Amino acid sequence: MVRLGTVRTVIKGCGGYLPERVLTNADLAKMVDTSDSWITERTGIKERRIAAEGELTSTMGALAAKAALTDAGLAPEDIDLIILATSTPDQTFPASAVTIQADLGITHGAAFDMQAVCSGFVFALATADSYLKSGQFKRALVIGAEAFSRILDWKDRSTCVLFGDGAGAVVVEAQKLNGALTDRGILATCLRSDGRYRDKLYVDGGPSSTGTVGHVRMDGPEVFRHAVTNISEVIGTTLAQAGYVSSDIDWFVPHQANKRILDGTARKLGLDPERIIITVDKHANTSAASIPLALSQGSADGRIKQGDLVLIEAMGGGFTWGALLIRW
Ligand code: ACO
Repeated sequence: MVRLGTVRTVIKGCGGYLPERVLTNADLAKMVDTSDSWITERTGIKERRIAAEGELTSTMGALAAKAALTDAGLAPEDIDLIILATSTPDQTFPASAVTIQADLGITHGAAFDMQAVCSGFVFALATADSYLKSGQFKRALVIGAEAFSRILDWKDRSTCVLFGDGAGAVVVEAQKLNGALTDRGILATCLRSDGRYRDKLYVDGGPSSTGTVGHVRMDGPEVFRHAVTNISEVIGTTLAQAGYVSSDIDWFVPHQANKRILDGTARKLGLDPERIIITVDKHANTSAASIPLALSQGSADGRIKQGDLVLIEAMGGGFTWGALLIRW
């Protein structure tokens, strides 16, 4: 719903981190029966990053968080809430968010993980928005961090070419504003899930089922079939809540899963391709990390500016999907 109250959740800064090791499509063609042209044509991906041995989800998340704090001009002690969106935590428990909290030296407030797979960052930012608006917390770090390389079946060409590792983060702050749509901050949020489709994209292991971590399994064409429809629906709803239309959007920053899905969504919504931030070519699908990585890129290179209307959206396993409209 449109937030016409006195408190808005304002983006103060963002940051990203990618591991050093690059794995190109050509490298993958030496590992499984695939080719650069197949991957490029079907997905737009050219390369992905792979976390080094000992480089954990929390390691990457903490580095992205520190970059976001620097960008915001804030110190760790200014933060009283950390939400980490991830499907690849360091351990089954405790939450990797508390490892990041300890790494940052924060001993007050709360930190927890959130799991909505590729939609994780959208769910986490919407959750932070609710907490900040309620007055329970003042400033939050919302992080998406993933070590997907650790749950890929490197013999399955239909999935291993699609994903990569990385982390991104934003710092958000509760600010008392007039409540106008021109005020900065999160203007509208919309979250959805439909568990009937949970077997279309899943991991074949878990603590209460197999006692193992498992590997990613996906019915790619079925995911693709739902993606454009679901994403378009949720974007339409989010825009309508705030009283905007797609041509008002300055920057469309989608979950970076697959360029064909992004192009299809943009076509369906009549979005100008020049207004889409695309980073999937450089780091593949980093699941919950992909939107904050793309936001960091767009903000660092000067495309996203204060006052711009930014729409983020994602769809992922569950299925889960959602969108947020932000006045940057
Ligand atoms: N290299 C070469 N050939 C491959 C590869 C590969 N890496 N993977 C599959 N193939 C083959 C298949 O075996 C099949 O061969 P066959 O015709 O001899 O049986 C052929 O390519 C076509 O396979 P499809 O799965 O039908 O290919 P499709 O055109 O649907 O593309 C893809 C597959 C890219 C996965 C597509 O379905 C897709 O983008 N789906 C969305 C998946 C996605 O983005 N998931 C991310 C998580 S969800 C999200 O974030 C939205």
